[in-house]
Amino acid sequence: MNKIVKKPRSIEGVFRLPPDKSISHRVALFNAIAGGSAQIFNYSTSLDCQSTLACLTQLGASIESHTTPNQQHNIKIHQAVLNETSKLLDAGNSGTTLRLLTGFLASQPFSTTITGDSSLRKRPMGRIIEPLTKMGANISGESNNTLAPLNISGQQLNGIEYYMPIASAQVKSAILLAGLFANGKTIVHQPLASRNHTELLLASMGASIVVDDLTVSIESKGKLQACDITIPGDISAASFWLVAGTIHPNAKITLEGVGANPSRIQFIETLQAMGARITINPYTHLNQQEPVCDLTIESSELHSISIGRELIPGLIDEIPALALAACFAEGTSTIEDAGELRFKESDRIKTTVSELSKLGATIRELPNGIKISGKPTLDGAICSSHGDHRIAMMTAIAGLLSSGETIVQEAESASVSDPTFWHRIDEIQSS
Ligand code: S3P
Repeated sequence: MNKIVKKPRSIEGVFRLPPDKSISHRVALFNAIAGGSAQIFNYSTSLDCQSTLACLTQLGASIESHTTPNQQHNIKIHQAVLNETSKLLDAGNSGTTLRLLTGFLASQPFSTTITGDSSLRKRPMGRIIEPLTKMGANISGESNNTLAPLNISGQQLNGIEYYMPIASAQVKSAILLAGLFANGKTIVHQPLASRNHTELLLASMGASIVVDDLTVSIESKGKLQACDITIPGDISAASFWLVAGTIHPNAKITLEGVGANPSRIQFIETLQAMGARITINPYTHLNQQEPVCDLTIESSELHSISIGRELIPGLIDEIPALALAACFAEGTSTIEDAGELRFKESDRIKTTVSELSKLGATIRELPNGIKISGKPTLDGAICSSHGDHRIAMMTAIAGLLSSGETIVQEAESASVSDPTFWHRIDEIQSS
């Protein structure tokens, strides 16, 4: 599907963004393996989170879905024992589904094969197979056990102490889920902090989990207790609208009910450091320890920024949005130590640089990063999403900020995380 985007005279409005993808995956999986029933309000309808529900249902989970008249999607998960399925599990485009489920399935008394689409089958799985194998797991994959499909033959696992070579919430979560069913204690040391939704949720469901700075330990302690939760709006989906509101010369946008977990707000802080006028209005109640806020963004003048190793894990999904903002910021911005971007749904260093170059940006690839010299305008062009949802959204928002007409090819990829994205873009252009 091709979509055409043009710069509107203004961008104004109050938007409610899609539910957080990372929290939705975890809430579904952890409740499916818990004792009791859970009511989950505002579950993500993204294709990725639907892949998680489909895999869990295939494994025997009992999940009811209900959409309210105001289009909120709620699910109810009843207690069930997950068990063997003769069919291949398909995680679609979702790395979180595949990696977290593998961590759980490694310890279960049955065998499974899990795969994904052509993008996911190219993404590195050695990073989970290696620690899980140290715990006693029996997992084999393509290309010398580095790629999906993965064949998982469930085993009794033993806890390990593991020093993670990369900061990754997916890898950390896979190990912690395996540790939940292993003999003894599992200790994970992270090189840098990554998003902590797994730790918060497992703790609130009664797991024996201890977080000490960058070290997380977990021990098996009976079944998790199901818990009700309302999923907040997705801060990563919000990042594109923060850029639209900041860069467009005539913008004022409010984003309601956005998740503001401290491990996810680095992008807001980075844009503010560049000069963005963003106001954060926190909600007073906590939702299973996941804070929520409203964000208001107004047209701003940005200056360049340089970011490196320490900040990358907290910004990992927001770098395409940050690169777009830097195209309009005064001065030269550099993003370094971001080699992990090469292992996302596309090689996001390459795809970000190639698509923004088409729009006339002064941008180039570094070995593990991106260098961008800001200028006042970009010019519409024909861009491709490369089948990557975040590149689809980056090019569409670039179209709202560029002169002329921008065509986004393979635009449907946005639904991997935000099925409402194009509706919002169409609404802005018709107002
Ligand atoms: C995610 C973790 C990140 C992120 C991905 C979602 C998660 O991946 O890029 O979109 O939900 O745990 P890594 O853990 O591989 O960095």
